[in-house]
This record gives sequence, structure tokens and C-alpha cells, in this order.
Amino acid sequence: MINAKLMQMVVNASNDGIVVAEREGQDKPLIYVNPAFERLTGYTLDDILYQDCRFLQSGDRDQPALMAIREALDSGGTCREILRNYRKDGTPFWNELSLSTVYNAVDKQTYFVGVQKDVTTQVKAQQRVTQLEAQVAELKEQLATLRATSGVNKL
Ligand SMILES: Cc1cc2nc3c(=O)[nH]c(=O)nc-3n(C[C@H](O)[C@H](O)[C@H](O)COP(=O)(O)O)c2cc1C
Repeated sequence: MINAKLMQMVVNASNDGIVVAEREGQDKPLIYVNPAFERLTGYTLDDILYQDCRFLQSGDRDQPALMAIREALDSGGTCREILRNYRKDGTPFWNELSLSTVYNAVDKQTYFVGVQKDVTTQVKAQQRVTQLEAQVAELKEQLATLRATSGVNKL
């Protein structure tokens, strides 16, 4: 069985952000963030203790992922969503957020655990692929039109 000290070392060693928030109320106040979260966002636990994690959205609130997140939080469920977040210095990044509800049999309180992964490189690569696919589709259309109007079947 893993003890509390080893568990702390594991969470400290994680490459992904790990945060814990209390469940009660509209806001979900943060009570813990691990070192990877501090490195990823530039915020320390002292900066954001008892704040709701939405400060990472910095006013960028028109995001479809937020619907699924609200639903998971309201129902005490889980979700995995990618959303735009902003570091303390204002630079944006794509955050793959995995949220779960923790039902604590010891103090009967409910908590949420969030795991944050920076997927900026993957999202940008996907955006570029989508852009290039659109360009290829457009060029194919132009080629088909050219063939049809010029009577040339083979280039
Ligand atoms: C444990 C936990 C971690 C969260 N982590 C993030 C996060 O990394 N980035 C983010 O934009 N929102 C995060 N959220 C979601 C926001 O705190 C908030 O619940 C979301 O914006 C939807 O609620 P709202 O419409 O009241 O803002 C997290 C929520 C919880 C409970």
C-alpha cells in the first residue's frame, strides 16, 4: 500500500499539472497545485489559493469545452477537454484538462482533481494539417474546373 509521503513525492514528480479543488458552491476553490502546474502556468499556490481555476481563461470564455466541464462538475462526473488558457505572463497555451470527482469516505467531503497537460504543439500541428487540407481541396477544385473548361483531361 502506498503511503502519504510516497504519494506526495509521486505528485511532486508528475510532469503534468495536478490540482485539487473543493466542490461546494459555484466557485471551486483550489486548495492544492503541484510543481508541474506552477511551471506550466507561472502561478504559485500562494498566488491562487482558494481561487476558481477559471482565472486561467483570462476572459476567453466563449469556448465549447466549458459546457462539458460545467456538466461534469454539476453531475459529479468526469471529463477530458482541450481549452485555451493563459499563463501568468499572458502567453496562451492549449490545455488538455482531465477532471474527476473525488468522493472522500474519510471526511465525507467531495473534491475535484484536475490534471493539466500542455498540448499546444499537437493542437498547432492539427490546425496546420486542417489548413493544408483545405488548400489541397481548393487546388483540386481549381484543377477540375481548369480541366473542364480547357478540354484538357491529362496534365
Ligand atoms: C479541479 C479543477 C481544475 C480545473 N482546471 C482548469 C484549468 O486548468 N483550466 C481551465 O480553464 N479551467 C479549469 N477548471 C474549470 C474552471 O474552474 C470552471 O469550473 C469552468 O470555467 C466552468 O465554470 P464557470 O462557467 O463558472 O467558469 C477546473 C475546475 C476544477 C474543479
